[in-house]
Amino acid sequence: MGITLIKISSIYFAVGVAIGYYMSLVHDYALTPVHVHINLLGWTALTLAGILYHLFPSLGEAKLGKFHFWLHNAGLPIMMAGLYLSIVLESDQWVPVIATGASLTVLAVFLFVFNIFLNLKSE
Ligand code: HEM
Ligand code: HEM
Repeated sequence: MGITLIKISSIYFAVGVAIGYYMSLVHDYALTPVHVHINLLGWTALTLAGILYHLFPSLGEAKLGKFHFWLHNAGLPIMMAGLYLSIVLESDQWVPVIATGASLTVLAVFLFVFNIFLNLKSE
């Protein structure tokens, strides 16, 4: 699971820097919040989680690890798609989508933290 997570996170990295590059080219920084959270919650956080799941198999094998994996990978794309659409279409109607994605992502991070405290041991 750790390796899969690192592969997924590298896709977030590519999308995140592409948005940063696009913003620099057109001098329009409206998409900064999308750029920031794809890079930090997608690339940085998931790469670190992937490395931890690989280094400490007890974390990745735990149910909490699996729940974190699926919730994070469901919540973040929903949150980012909603945020992107609300910025590009300048509409508040996407706020419930952002909130749903954000809630799933926050829950995922809490489960990740519980997992660290319950199941991280030197192997
Ligand atoms: C070639 C790659 C990248 C480009 C071209 C790029 C470009 C940008 C641009 C144009 C902004 C908006 C600046 C503004 O509003 O004044 C920005 C903001 C930001 N970027 Fe990037 N970025 C890149 C990679 C990254 C990466 C890899 C990360 C994190 C892992 C990152 C984190 C941030 C953060 C946190 C902000 C917001 C800074 C603030 O709130 O002042 N960027 N980036
Ligand atoms: C699900 C979790 C998260 C939610 C719901 C969230 C939400 C938000 C919101 C509402 C803003 C203000 C956006 C604006 O002013 O337009 C923001 C800004 C920011 N957040 Fe998050 N955030 C989350 C996680 C994180 C994490 C984990 C990091 C870093 C590791 C982070 C880094 C930032 C940064 C750097 C900014 C400033 C961006 C800018 O300059 O536009 N956020 N976040």
